[in-house]
Amino acid sequence: MKSLCLTLIFLLLQLHSLAYGGRLGQHTTTQPECSLPKDEGSTLRVIHVSSPCSPLKPKTSESWEENVIQMLAQDQARVNYLSSLVSAKKSVAPVAWGRQIMQTPTYLVRVNVGTPAQTFLMALDTSSDAAWLPCNGCLGCPGTSLFASDRSVSFKGVACATSQCHQVLNSVCVLNSCTFNQTYGGSTIAATLSQDTIALAQDPLPGYVFGCITKATGTSVPAQGLLGLGRGPLSLLSQSQNLYKSTFSYCLPSFKSSSFSGQLRLGPIAQPQKMQFTPLLKNPRRSSLYYVNLIGIKVGRKVVDIPPAALAFDSTTGAGTVIDSGTVYTRLVQPAYIAVRDEFRRRMGRATVTSLGGFDTCYNVPIKIPSLTFMFQGMNMSMAQDSFLLHSSSSSITCLAIAAAPDNVNSGLNVIASMQQQNHRVLFDVPNSRLGIAREPCS
Ligand SMILES: *[C@@H]1O[C@H](CO)[C@@H](O)[C@H](O)[C@H]1NC(C)=O
Ligand SMILES: *[C@@H]1O[C@H](CO)[C@@H](O)[C@H](O)[C@H]1NC(C)=O
Repeated sequence: MKSLCLTLIFLLLQLHSLAYGGRLGQHTTTQPECSLPKDEGSTLRVIHVSSPCSPLKPKTSESWEENVIQMLAQDQARVNYLSSLVSAKKSVAPVAWGRQIMQTPTYLVRVNVGTPAQTFLMALDTSSDAAWLPCNGCLGCPGTSLFASDRSVSFKGVACATSQCHQVLNSVCVLNSCTFNQTYGGSTIAATLSQDTIALAQDPLPGYVFGCITKATGTSVPAQGLLGLGRGPLSLLSQSQNLYKSTFSYCLPSFKSSSFSGQLRLGPIAQPQKMQFTPLLKNPRRSSLYYVNLIGIKVGRKVVDIPPAALAFDSTTGAGTVIDSGTVYTRLVQPAYIAVRDEFRRRMGRATVTSLGGFDTCYNVPIKIPSLTFMFQGMNMSMAQDSFLLHSSSSSITCLAIAAAPDNVNSGLNVIASMQQQNHRVLFDVPNSRLGIAREPCS
């Protein structure tokens, strides 16, 4: 009887520690609301950076309005970065890209690195090819979770005379280690190209090549590393080609959500079949980005009048539309944004329009637009109000959560961002060059 009692108590304690994020061990400060389910098969939970399960929550005491304005300002830098991405040499892989700007990552997944496994919440980025981690002894890394390579029996350096080292831009050989420097937003990192087993959910990927950060300056380095889902030579897609066949899908949870059912599903198995698809286009000037053909936008049932040139895909200039998980609010080039915004304003009649930071179409009365639809070649992506309107929790202001692309950028790049993708299944089917989108409540 006594031992049964003890067993019960033990089980309860175990359940308690599972439910309260015990799996993340030292990385987490215990949060009562956090319950992050296990990653099963080839499916990983996707957490929003400000979710209760995230140890990387930005420490802000700011108001909702200030947060919205700040996120839009950070987005601006991200959109500038995406627009400036031009690969110098087509065959060279950007583990170390050129200059770039990045912010606090928006979505995180759990990745186990090394043997025995050390767990990290890495930032998900569909517009990057790289994977890198802050490593033990790192000078200036922002987080406290560092990868202890000396405690992993499967860890190896990557020698200079390897194809992987040659694929890294501007790599330098130091004592036969392949090292590189990289500018990252306001930060610079120095890293050593390394190899170890990483495990995504229950899938081990032995000998995975990533950058081990030895030195960082500035504050824009994601605290527990970056996992790029772009499609260049050293990306996750190419390194797991045999297992996942360059196929993945995700459903991003709303950033207002306190549940954690967002998912990243890797590989062709168990992907949805019945959905609309649009061709995935490849732009040689920005080879890691996922381009699609946006052909129109509907406000309610009305197709707004957008000059076709504003949406046209052009592989010589890099103009067109990309799907990105790292930008928060969709950006449209000026003529497209103005057409959408004007139709919104027309529908709102005489209600007084106000602004909030970079958002110029806000109202203090309820907005009556039922839906917004991005029309892609072969596929319509229709969004409910929650995906295109921002409501303040403290005041009664509501804004159209789409903005014009920064006008200092001449790229003609439209970016379909994460807020608009929330509660949709987005399937990247690279072998068949197609992208599928279907509504799916996941938050
Ligand atoms: C990185 O920068 C440091 C100086 O900040 C320099 O000593 C080192 O050689 C650089 N490494 C590479 C790979 O460029
Ligand atoms: C998308 O919507 C437009 C306008 O309502 C319609 O004409 C078109 O057939 C739809 N496309 C698909 C693939 O359903």
